[in-house]
Amino acid sequence: MGRKFFVGGNWKCNGTVEEVKKIVTVLNEAEVPSEDIVEVVVSPPFVFLPLVKSLLRSDFQVAAQNCWIRKGGAFTGEISAEMLVNLGIPWVILGHSERRSLLAESNEFVGDKVAYALSQGLKVIACVGETLEQRESGSTMAVVAAQTKAIAEKVSSWDNIVLAYEPVWAIGTGKVATPAQAQEVHCELRKWLHDNAGDEVAASTRIIYGGSVNGANCKELATQLDVDGFLVGGASLKVWLFIAYELYIIIIYLVIFQTLETYARLIHFP
Ligand code: PGA
Repeated sequence: MGRKFFVGGNWKCNGTVEEVKKIVTVLNEAEVPSEDIVEVVVSPPFVFLPLVKSLLRSDFQVAAQNCWIRKGGAFTGEISAEMLVNLGIPWVILGHSERRSLLAESNEFVGDKVAYALSQGLKVIACVGETLEQRESGSTMAVVAAQTKAIAEKVSSWDNIVLAYEPVWAIGTGKVATPAQAQEVHCELRKWLHDNAGDEVAASTRIIYGGSVNGANCKELATQLDVDGFLVGGASLKVWLFIAYELYIIIIYLVIFQTLETYARLIHFP
């Protein structure tokens, strides 16, 4: 079976109640293909999760941007996987480069978090990616392989994991990876999964790209064989509400460019 396209919106540490409501309204009104064709997951900050979940259309899902490494307890400021499950939040983003670098989350720490979140029934968007320095020194593949290995060693199944390749130098910089650069790493990651987790896992795991994706550059990226979707931040965008429109356009393009004949007729452009 083919891999279902995945479009994630990472809202990072942004927004007010009013802004969040506006974005949800835009998304709710968007005419997008059905959830059989594309999976849409938006990730607001923790404090807005219940609000977004209560207002968001039922064919879109929500994700938290992080969760604690194990069962909750005396961990001031943390949010446990159990709490997310209790709130009916199905997804969590783990290992984002902003947390790896700013909060010193190691590969092993991220691997443990992914395993714990999965054990509690969450689905995980697991992020990997190299810095500019690492790319320039030719160690891109070694870096993302080590990050993926740290996850693979801790999990028994990849069924509920989406792997997000997010080169650090492309995040929030407006400097997007070329389609060839993205495809090269995605293809290598799929090979890595094949060699280390098996045929099935390699064929079915979605590998999505993140890093300055927008409505204009997503078209070409989406035509790459091993690009199964996007994680879109939009930190570089000045107008916050624009993110919702961009997400909408990306969902539409992604579907059109991957299933041109079948779906182009059905899609109504804004
Ligand atoms: P960006 O962020 O689209 O603003 O580059 C992507 C991400 O951090 O997930």
